[in-house]
Amino acid sequence: MIFKFPISKIDKIILERFRDILIKYNYTYDYFQTVKINPFAFTQFDLPLFAYRFPETLSFGILFHLFLLGAKLDKKIVGKIFDAEFTEQLLKIKILEKAGDNHIQSAVTIIPYQSFYFAADFIFRLDNRQNNKPKYEYVYPVSLDSITLCDALIKKSVNSVLDLGCGCGILSLVASQFSKNVTGVDLNPRAVNFSRFNALLNGIDNCEFLQGDLYRPIKEEKFDLILSNPPYEITPKKTYLYKDGGKYGYLILKRIMKDVSKHLKRNGFCQVINRIVQFNNEKREEVLKNWVAPDKLRILFIELQKIDIYQYAYLISMDNLICEDKTLDYQKYSGKIVELLDFFHKIHLTDTSLGIFNLTRDTRFTFTEQNFDITHQSAAKLQNVIQMHFSSKILQILSYFYRRIFDS
Ligand SMILES: C[S@@+](CC[C@H](N)C(=O)[O-])C[C@H]1O[C@@H](n2cnc3c(N)ncnc32)[C@H](O)[C@@H]1O
Repeated sequence: MIFKFPISKIDKIILERFRDILIKYNYTYDYFQTVKINPFAFTQFDLPLFAYRFPETLSFGILFHLFLLGAKLDKKIVGKIFDAEFTEQLLKIKILEKAGDNHIQSAVTIIPYQSFYFAADFIFRLDNRQNNKPKYEYVYPVSLDSITLCDALIKKSVNSVLDLGCGCGILSLVASQFSKNVTGVDLNPRAVNFSRFNALLNGIDNCEFLQGDLYRPIKEEKFDLILSNPPYEITPKKTYLYKDGGKYGYLILKRIMKDVSKHLKRNGFCQVINRIVQFNNEKREEVLKNWVAPDKLRILFIELQKIDIYQYAYLISMDNLICEDKTLDYQKYSGKIVELLDFFHKIHLTDTSLGIFNLTRDTRFTFTEQNFDITHQSAAKLQNVIQMHFSSKILQILSYFYRRIFDS
């Protein structure tokens, strides 16, 4: 049986108490920042270092071992944080699970982000166990791409947000802070189950989550804001639902773009993080214009990172090696690199750019690309660049003078 939360049996009070305990023992986003551990980007090579640094003798260490390292702990050690009765309750709602007679482990990883907690599937566990790990229906934990899109969000107060491919629910829950209602959709029923759980865990009740294919579950509905971090890797063969972008990587992006106009309100806005692929002599503008025709959009693509095919082959192969191939088979790794590069040459891929599409409906099609150095510039600056592009000419001029006065 593939793991799922028993949503209807979950008592909110238990989750409130669970959160309070996480906060009490510093299992928080702020504390991770203080100790300079990035919970959105680490590899299995980091785990032994982390385990040594935060041993189970510390209260924080127990939570860290359970929820970040996926370790199996003696019941007595877990008892130092969760008393016997509460441990039973956490076992019942399936946050914790038994690992033999005397040991307990967490069924899911729990990643803090700002004031939120997000449960998702573990990428790796300290001792490499893979029990219960679903392949195709794996639920992607909060990661750098989701966080980058959160940084770019234009957090204007709105009535409705649609999150396409909601996964563990990160974009929906963040948007629930500035939108009256949020709808998250995911093809993966487990992702819908995790999003519902995470809304409960964070005490959020203005989000609904629907299972289905992109816009299908929302029928004709229109939204003020559409967000998405869809699958976007080039995957010649089916791998995971969360990353399968098909042979050219843009399978889902193309479908999002094609129908986005129909689901945006008049002044609606859409933000999508994606990797766009560049093929020989192909003009991005023309490709996008054809995808959305006859609709007209004003698109700003903020390019965050451009990489060539060699860097891209390395990235995909390392990801496979780290996340999937636990044996770290070097022969397999080099074989994969050659196979990928041969494939990239065959499809005439030249490079790929990770970036954020920002768009609105318009009376004519326009496409603008702009680079942004995310490592050296703030999230506020990124939001400003996006807002400026979409503000009216008068506002742009006013804002230009305003900044000149205050910068001088
Ligand atoms: C890269 S993950 C992102 C998840 C989450 N939004 C985040 O930022 O962490 C992409 C998500 O899209 C979902 N997905 C893939 N194809 C889909 C489709 N056709 N319709 C709806 N969701 C889809 C996957 O199941 C996965 O949860």
